[in-house]
Amino acid sequence: MVKIEELRKNYGKFQALDGMNLDIKKGELFGFVGPNGAGKTTTMRIMSGLLSADGGTVMVGDVNVTAHPTKVKDKIGYMPDFFGVYDNLKAIEYMEFFASIYGFYGKSARKLCLEMMDLVNLADKENAYVDGLSRGMKQRLCLARCLIHNPELLILDEPASGLDPRARFEMKEILRNLSDMGKTILISSHILPELAEMCTNVGIVEHGKLVVSGTVDEIMSRMNSSNPLVVKFEEGQDETIHFLKENPAIENISIRSDKVYIGFQGNSMEEGRLLGDMVRHGAVISSYGREEGNLESLFMQITGNEGE
Ligand SMILES: Nc1ncnc2c1ncn2[C@@H]1O[C@H](COP(=O)(O)OP(=O)(O)OP(=O)(O)O)[C@@H](O)[C@H]1O
Ligand SMILES: [Mg+2]
Repeated sequence: MVKIEELRKNYGKFQALDGMNLDIKKGELFGFVGPNGAGKTTTMRIMSGLLSADGGTVMVGDVNVTAHPTKVKDKIGYMPDFFGVYDNLKAIEYMEFFASIYGFYGKSARKLCLEMMDLVNLADKENAYVDGLSRGMKQRLCLARCLIHNPELLILDEPASGLDPRARFEMKEILRNLSDMGKTILISSHILPELAEMCTNVGIVEHGKLVVSGTVDEIMSRMNSSNPLVVKFEEGQDETIHFLKENPAIENISIRSDKVYIGFQGNSMEEGRLLGDMVRHGAVISSYGREEGNLESLFMQITGNEGE
């Protein structure tokens, strides 16, 4: 659905995108994560045809966006990271304005707008003034107007930023529903945990480049294999540690409270064999496994950023 190759963008002398690559398949809910200034918004604006690139290509479906930026408009719904100021405009008028841009007028436009507002839980806000809506409602209204022309791909720039936990939860539910409806969704955030639980795929960006990407499970297992094995011995701990020290695949061993942490880079097959070896050596083991990792610690490891 989306293929970005070696995308470059400079703002004057500053290189904001330095060979960005991104591959998003149809139906994915792709989390685009990176610290402030990593290049998320720049990438999304180029994908949406709003900003020109200095090199590389962006394909959205069969449209080459870098060569024909206006052709992508029908395929995508882009939600920017800011919501403008709309004096004296009611929610339904805001929606109808955007509907008119896509060629919907009159009764059919109103019906469509109300349907989209219903989809984002704003059915009762038809006559509310836009400027009087809460931040969460504004974000949802903005999402509703991205849906008017039934785009295949949604490009959402930090849709959950600045929302309280309840509003964030509501936004996530809506995004999950849209994903279930078959939309491909790219969503950016600089807070990984905010995204990980609902995304099918995650790409981590830093300094204008993609540093890691994959399914959430792939990223987790990659991370887990660098975590230590944690073993709880009932018997034979000291003898086994002695025995393990001779194994060249074991980098380090430490003991914390009643558990032994083993730095072991093997795959799951080798992990299984190691357990067998210890048991044959006389150890009685009541628990054995990789230390649980989480995406947040991976993110910190990669970006060295506080992630706020
Ligand atoms: N119009 C501009 N002129 C000059 N520099 C810019 C401009 N827009 C962005 N930049 C710079 O390009 C870099 C990438 O910015 P971008 O907005 O794409 O990052 P981001 O990942 O979206 O960050 P954030 O999490 O803060 O939204 C930043 O260092 C930013 O300061
Ligand atoms: Mg941004």
